[in-house]
Amino acid sequence: MTKKRIMSVFGTRPEAIKMAPLVKALAEREGFESICCLTGQHREMLDSVMQIFKLEADYDLDIMEKSQTLSKITTKTLLGMEQVIAEAKPDLILVHGDTTTTFAGALSAFYHQVPVGHVEAGLRTFDKLSPFPEEMNRNLVGKIADLHFSPTLANAENLRREQLAGEIFITGNTVIDAMKYTVSDEFKFTDPKLNELDFEGKKVIVMTCHRRENYGEPMAAIMRAVRRLAEANPDVQIVYPVHLSPVVQNAAHGELDGIANVLLTEPVDVEQMHNLMARSYLVLTDSGGLQEEAPSLGKPVLVMRKETERPEAIAAGTAKLLGVDEETIVTETQRLLDDPAAYEQMAKAVNPYGDGNACERICDAIAWYFGLKAERPEDFNA
Ligand code: UD1
Ligand code: UDP
Repeated sequence: MTKKRIMSVFGTRPEAIKMAPLVKALAEREGFESICCLTGQHREMLDSVMQIFKLEADYDLDIMEKSQTLSKITTKTLLGMEQVIAEAKPDLILVHGDTTTTFAGALSAFYHQVPVGHVEAGLRTFDKLSPFPEEMNRNLVGKIADLHFSPTLANAENLRREQLAGEIFITGNTVIDAMKYTVSDEFKFTDPKLNELDFEGKKVIVMTCHRRENYGEPMAAIMRAVRRLAEANPDVQIVYPVHLSPVVQNAAHGELDGIANVLLTEPVDVEQMHNLMARSYLVLTDSGGLQEEAPSLGKPVLVMRKETERPEAIAAGTAKLLGVDEETIVTETQRLLDDPAAYEQMAKAVNPYGDGNACERICDAIAWYFGLKAERPEDFNA
């Protein structure tokens, strides 16, 4: 029997981290041929993930430009995908999450009438401008998709309310599968700056910040808050791998360069990042992925956004939504530094996002869809 050709299309760091274990799992299945197509929406940050997971792309559209616009990412992906689909002839295209690669990848599949599987489906804030453009990207991909792989029950319920066509599976988030490859007690940092950190003597705060809706004053307020926290707490070490976006680079270096207990680095590879978080005191972020990873590592996560599509960790008490107001960020972070009871309440390991078997469920669901398996996979139940 000819194998079903399953093509995973992704282009940014978080998509790569969350698709890597799935690409591997698909390659190990008898009935599938796993094809990997990168848009290259990110470059260095994407290549780093491919190296860590020892993945090779079959196609690479290599579209990234400095300070690229959303229209450029979309059109270059659409044009590049035309040739790839014609050549690879996939039976199913998988996209992940809510980036512009995700949207353009799904739209391209639709134009060529290739069925679409959406990994990490059903996350919603219900505010079309926040996160921007991700909330609209994932809504549009939901309309196109034939298979929806929702990490949690709440995500699946969002999709059911929308009465979308297609099959919905609750699988857990593949990021928890990815962490099985990266997190280890014996891990040694290869980056000397991380190796020199005093995890015993200092409270290490891991920070990231990159969202487009935070560009401008919100990001400036975040940076001012971090400066104040660093200056008021010499026993704290802030580690901030700065996203390569020129807007973020300017905001971070402009405010935080030269502060003794703030370490600004280039983006670190995902193995170092996960193990850094595992050894940290708390996580301060506007990232989506970090909101899923930190709870599973038992680290409180303070979210510097106005909304979140990931309410599960907040309900479990390990994440808190701070907004982007300078005073609130300072006050709430300071509370976790000063109040052991408040800290202990948040510092518990919870795994509402997955059990590490999401990729197996997704492979089983695809096999069921193609009639290679009689049973639908059982839903993940947190
Ligand atoms: C993108 C996604 C966002 C996701 C984020 C993860 C969109 C619209 N946004 O945002 O959902 O949370 O990735 O990080 O899809 N750059 C480099 N090298 C890299 C990566 C980026 O130099 O490896 C620079 C380039 O100048 C690029 C800029 O960063 O133009 C912005 O990258 P882009 O992918 O457009 O947006 P992100 O903010 O990374
Ligand atoms: N990450 C990384 N190196 C870094 C910063 C983040 O490997 O320097 C990882 C992080 O652990 C998570 C993912 O990148 O798995 C999150 O990506 P990002 O914050 O860029 O995007 P988002 O999740 O917000 O879409």
